[in-house]
Amino acid sequence: MDFKKISEKNEKWIAEKLSIDPDYFNKLSQGQAPEFLYIGCSDSRVTAEDLMGANPGEVFIHRNIANQVIPTDNNINAVIQYAVEHLKVKHIIICGHYECGGVKAALHPSDMGQLNSWLQTLRDVRRLHKDELDSIKDEHQLFDRLVELNVKEQCMNVIKIDHVQRSWYKTGYPQIHGWVFDVRTGKLIDLGLKMEKEFMEIREIYDLKPLENKL
Ligand code: CO
Repeated sequence: MDFKKISEKNEKWIAEKLSIDPDYFNKLSQGQAPEFLYIGCSDSRVTAEDLMGANPGEVFIHRNIANQVIPTDNNINAVIQYAVEHLKVKHIIICGHYECGGVKAALHPSDMGQLNSWLQTLRDVRRLHKDELDSIKDEHQLFDRLVELNVKEQCMNVIKIDHVQRSWYKTGYPQIHGWVFDVRTGKLIDLGLKMEKEFMEIREIYDLKPLENKL
């Protein structure tokens, strides 16, 4: 893969799109109205649109190492606020993936320099679920489970955000979904998390809305 090849592929892609609809890029330039905000890992194997079979304009995307939602991360806060308040997405998806290097690093503590602070929240997920994780003896099962629990904790972090709660109380959206992409099979797994129920259980700690505006 070099730039010349990329450029050729781009030309081919343009030609394909135009052969189906000569007006394709005109329409695309009119604006976006995606129903999904996808938050996934930066891992090069986990290509959001491909694995969802999505077209340009259908998914608003944010990716970082190990698909984390960190409250002091200005970048993800801006993405979520824009997606919820302006694009009015119906769904927010946190998508983790098996064999995630970030999660693996959290399982094997070592000094990774600049990455230490980023990985700390993953280590926190491990601490939060220590009892369950300590009961898993198989190293690979443990790795997989931490990937899943990280997805769940990041979904929890999404529902703690004020913009999300405001919209949720007003419209019932966005719904929050936890997925795992299995790089070993290509399968997208819905973890079936019930985030509304989860929120009710931690509401006394994280609910930001005044009482009169509650559902
Ligand atoms: Co990853």
